[in-house]
Amino acid sequence: MLRQLVDRLEKEQALPPAGLVSLLQTDDEDAVAYLAYRARMVAQSRFGRGVYVRGLVEISNVCRNNCYYCGIRRGNATAVRYRLGVEDIVACCREGHRAGFRTFVLQGGEDPAQDEEFVARVVTALHKEFPDSAITLSLGEKPQASYERFFRAGANRYLLRHETFGESHYRLLHPEEMSRKARLQCLYALKRIGYQVGTGIMVGSPGQTLQNVVDDLLFMSHFRPQMIGVGPFVPHRATPFADELPGSVSLTLRLLSVLRLMHPASLIPATTALSTLSDDGHVLGVLAGANVVMPNLSPINKRACYELYNRKAAWGAESAEGLAILQKQLETVGYHVDYSRGDYKE
Ligand code: 5AD
Repeated sequence: MLRQLVDRLEKEQALPPAGLVSLLQTDDEDAVAYLAYRARMVAQSRFGRGVYVRGLVEISNVCRNNCYYCGIRRGNATAVRYRLGVEDIVACCREGHRAGFRTFVLQGGEDPAQDEEFVARVVTALHKEFPDSAITLSLGEKPQASYERFFRAGANRYLLRHETFGESHYRLLHPEEMSRKARLQCLYALKRIGYQVGTGIMVGSPGQTLQNVVDDLLFMSHFRPQMIGVGPFVPHRATPFADELPGSVSLTLRLLSVLRLMHPASLIPATTALSTLSDDGHVLGVLAGANVVMPNLSPINKRACYELYNRKAAWGAESAEGLAILQKQLETVGYHVDYSRGDYKE
């Protein structure tokens, strides 16, 4: 019985692979509803009905990598490139701080011009001006010494999705010069240094099998990330995957619920990609067990340039100006925005 699998998953925070497969592929609507119900009860017991907000600043769309799925890959000659300077970034965060944000997420491509020195300067400046706020970095793979320097400068958290745990699936998504091993080494280094670490995957990326997803779940069970980012794959017109289908919203929601039951204390966002595919993505994500939303704080005239995939949401409830809209949407299901910095608590 599927309900019993849900109960067992909640109690043991684990299931044999076959049980995970059953929950992810069932089309029994009652079972899926029960899975989501237990996931949001677990989230509520930790976080109440509050949803943490994180201000997202996209600091550069220049990237040395060429991932087949990503719209800012270096091979996309149609992308209009930009990079923000230290003062631009601080100004975005200042505006965010005034709006109530107490976590800033600096995300960018692996831009060689934003070197270790640059990032350390940004983190130092933010830490000095906003000592009450958490600083999250999402800047890809860096030498361990750089991660250490950013941490000493005041960064607290790092987001780096593993994208897929399977070696052959990894090869399907990335060119030869990138490696799954390097990615995993970065993740373990970040943990060792003391960051709260986030990892995760795209749902429905080309070539992904249910077995891949189960392997991702088992990897995350072993790695114990403090944050878990899972959103649907969305094609981008100027990538090799332009003609692929988007990932499934319903599988994404189930996966959020399963992850919540496996990681009761983790910070799990209702992602931008989910909102891009579904107008009520935030609400659906929260009702499936997510407890974080990351509204866009990037300069308005740059937002359209940070296009990881087609029609990426960056407006309304997906933006810092739209916090009131987000609050209204959450209120319709009895939730509210929580402005506290929301560190991971065991
Ligand atoms: N669809 C969905 N998510 C994507 N990302 C990159 N490209 C896409 C896409 N086409 C995700 C990756 C990356 C994060 C910043 O955005 O998982 O880690």
